[in-house]
Amino acid sequence: MSASSNVLKEVHGRVALLVINRPEKRNALDSATRARLLDLLDELRADAEVRVVVLTGAGDKAFVAGADISEFEGRSPIDQFRVMSGRTVFDAVDSFPKPVIAALNGFTLGGGCELAMACDIRLAADTAKLGQPEVNLGIIPGGGGTQRLPRLVGAGAAYKLLYTGDLIGAEEALRIGLVDEVVPAAELRARALALAESIAQKSPVALQLIKEAVRASLRGTLDEGLKQETTLFGLAFSSEDKAEGVAAFLGKRPPEFKGR
Ligand code: COA
Repeated sequence: MSASSNVLKEVHGRVALLVINRPEKRNALDSATRARLLDLLDELRADAEVRVVVLTGAGDKAFVAGADISEFEGRSPIDQFRVMSGRTVFDAVDSFPKPVIAALNGFTLGGGCELAMACDIRLAADTAKLGQPEVNLGIIPGGGGTQRLPRLVGAGAAYKLLYTGDLIGAEEALRIGLVDEVVPAAELRARALALAESIAQKSPVALQLIKEAVRASLRGTLDEGLKQETTLFGLAFSSEDKAEGVAAFLGKRPPEFKGR
């Protein structure tokens, strides 16, 4: 584990675990934590040994309870605009070229819910509580919440969460499609690491291209997405990983993917 800091990095074989580490502030994202997260994502992006990333929060109370509200006070509109229009953790996770799994170990609120939604897969502890409470502060989500939430849960369920600011439990989040799996809290981290490890065995080329294709499906029209899928299929088809995957299948042995 790296030295004590606001985000900890643990490497478990081919899986990197990033732990947002401000438990006394319910892991709220202040500027320094966001900057550290961006640095670590850059580091992991370049590390070919790491094939999947898991994101979680320290302690048993929160994944991330949102942006650090204490930084809002006294910040001018143009300063806030600069914070949000620069490179954000939400974009960095969304465009990260490897799978990112969120393990929601408690309060997942505001920017925390938006960070979770920028991840590819969300596992939630049965104790997790999710919501977009910005409306209670007289503001709106600014990390993609108004865009990703309706895409995940539909407009009605999104409006309900956004208008009321109410928190929902993990089971309700599963029911509306905001999370993908609910796990007993004590087992969450192990389950997330096990899922990540099972994905880490696949071809990194295929994983990256799947992510690219799915991202296209969330952004453009069906025709554009299908065209993109064909192009990405061609790229996968010309990879060493494809040659290895096909040879391994025909040779009745497990494949060894190199990510090339
Ligand atoms: N920003 C800054 N500080 C936060 C925070 C946030 N988003 N969320 C929690 N904290 C701080 C609290 O101010 C408190 O600090 P203190 O001990 O110095 O007073 C500490 O974390 C513990 O919070 P507390 O409210 O006492 O814990 P709790 O377990 O009773 O409640 C929450 C947890 C998450 C429900 C509650 O803290 C909360 O509602 N947070 C704000 C959530 C929010 O509105 N997020 C969207 C921001 S745009």
